[in-house]
Amino acid sequence: EDQRRESLMIVTAFAAKFFHESLLDSDEGKSIGLSYFKERGFSTETIKKFELGYSPDQWEAFTGTAIKEGYQEQFLVESGLSVKRDNGALYDRYRGRVMFPIHSFTGRVIAFGGRTLKKDKNVPKYVNSPESEIYHKSNVLYGLYFAKKAIREEDNCYLVEGYADVLSVHQAGIENVVASSGTSLTAEQIRLIGRFTKNITILYDGDAAGIKASLRGLDMILEEGLNVKVVSFPDGHDPDSYVRLVGTSAFKKHIEETKKDFILYKANLLLKDAGNDPIKKAEIIREIVESIAKIPDSIKASVFIKECSYILQIDERSLLSELNKMRQAKA
Ligand code: GTP
Ligand code: MN
Ligand code: MN
Ligand code: MN
Ligand code: MN
Repeated sequence: EDQRRESLMIVTAFAAKFFHESLLDSDEGKSIGLSYFKERGFSTETIKKFELGYSPDQWEAFTGTAIKEGYQEQFLVESGLSVKRDNGALYDRYRGRVMFPIHSFTGRVIAFGGRTLKKDKNVPKYVNSPESEIYHKSNVLYGLYFAKKAIREEDNCYLVEGYADVLSVHQAGIENVVASSGTSLTAEQIRLIGRFTKNITILYDGDAAGIKASLRGLDMILEEGLNVKVVSFPDGHDPDSYVRLVGTSAFKKHIEETKKDFILYKANLLLKDAGNDPIKKAEIIREIVESIAKIPDSIKASVFIKECSYILQIDERSLLSELNKMRQAKA
């Protein structure tokens, strides 16, 4: 078992080196992959630190090299780097993509995300490694290895959606940033962050999908007993595009000036579509109290009830009785 895991890690490390060298040393990698990363504003330092790579646009460039070097087929397939055809022959899963290696929190490469450079809507934008004995995506956070020291020091973790967001925000000098790439946020991922800090700030995309994901994430974070704040970005922007647009100091300023605790965030968001409709307003209140009911610490919960009562101008006692009803329903 341990032997198998080790073999998978070794082939994955070999692949990371192969893709990284192909990005920096091959003509195809330089002219296609490296120029793409440079255009996106990633520095050489970032490219090297995160071991970014490029997979040649051929069927067997990686697999052929790996076999020649003596790596066993079973590990190539299980790691997801190679795919088996019906006739038994192997081909490369990643072809003509820029590669984002995913590190375990101890710094070993355990998986990859590969981004297409094509505009074609029928091609998936990102292809990620399948689950394997070394990669359980629900308990991995992209960037954690490079972020954990800063997370401890800042006593806060920024949570973003994508690989590029982690890289750009990190490059801007804000190193306490991770992404739940390839999956929606899980309880395991929150607990992983919880080893380093109890404070999470969500920086999700300013589109409908990002807002929906932020609401889901927020409730899960509360349920795990961590504190959560949310920062929004103008529609069409994500942290990567926004930090490149406005620069590091304006980005930091935006975070400080607009970060909201979950009640204010939910209230602002939901009240926008409710107008003065009292039925809709009642639904919003219930939704917010539902979030508060997820907080395990009852003293913290009662502080938030007070804030909610103040923001929404609702009698505190009726909020408390609603809270107790929900708590009983859950128990
Ligand atoms: P860029 O376009 O490179 O800036 O990517 P992004 O990170 O901004 O992508 P987006 O906001 O569309 O999606 C956020 C994250 O969801 C990505 O970083 C991926 O981890 C994941 N994702 C996006 N598209 C796909 C896809 O087609 N397949 C899979 N498996 N994951 C995806
Ligand atoms: Mn396992
Ligand atoms: Mn998005
Ligand atoms: Mn993006
Ligand atoms: Mn995005």
